[in-house]
Amino acid sequence: MKVNDVELVMSAVDPKQYPNTGYPEIGFLGRSNVGKSSLTNVLFNRRDYAHTSGQPGKTQTLNFYDVNHQLYFVDVPGYGYARVSKQEREKWAEMIETYLTQRTKLRGVVNLIDGRHEPSDYDIQMRDWLDYYNIPVLYVATKVDKLPKSKLKQQKEMLQNKLELQDNEKLVMFSAKTKVGKDEIWNWIEDKIKA
Ligand code: GTP
Ligand code: MG
Repeated sequence: MKVNDVELVMSAVDPKQYPNTGYPEIGFLGRSNVGKSSLTNVLFNRRDYAHTSGQPGKTQTLNFYDVNHQLYFVDVPGYGYARVSKQEREKWAEMIETYLTQRTKLRGVVNLIDGRHEPSDYDIQMRDWLDYYNIPVLYVATKVDKLPKSKLKQQKEMLQNKLELQDNEKLVMFSAKTKVGKDEIWNWIEDKIKA
């Protein structure tokens, strides 16, 4: 999809604040600093529309982006850093769970994991959660520009195994730097938002 028009229309915490235009919607999930904003910027073809930072946990609200007046992208804040208190973490978990279970227009979720490492407990927990809610998921391994090319295939297999992905569950190796994987991700999204 060619993005001509993108606008951040709402930063929401509560379902009452979610926009109700009724566009199909895709959520972007993953722990803080994994590269959610960087991925959405690549999909938008914008340099820094969704703000990126070296400061983990900067995004703390559900950010709804209107894309071409056709669909919403939702940047879902991640958590998982020790610096965040247990209470804050529980509040976050509740916000995300409410979003995932109550948002009827949610057509699918792009679940980001750091492509350089093994999946963390957080990633595994997220995987189980999404499974439980029966939401279509595309797995995206980020920052693969940091991997030697010769290791890519092996790393992908390792991630697929550790996440116990099934044949119908796709994993895309992605880099915001080289943009590898961008078309595959758009293809998946376009398929999910079809009427
Ligand atoms: P929060 O909003 O804090 O939850 O983080 P986020 O998931 O939106 O991550 P963000 O896109 O802000 O990226 C975090 C850091 O990782 C930034 O310093 C990015 O420049 C860097 N980064 C993101 N994607 C890539 C990538 O594909 N390759 C490399 N080398 N760095 C990346
Ligand atoms: Mg962000």
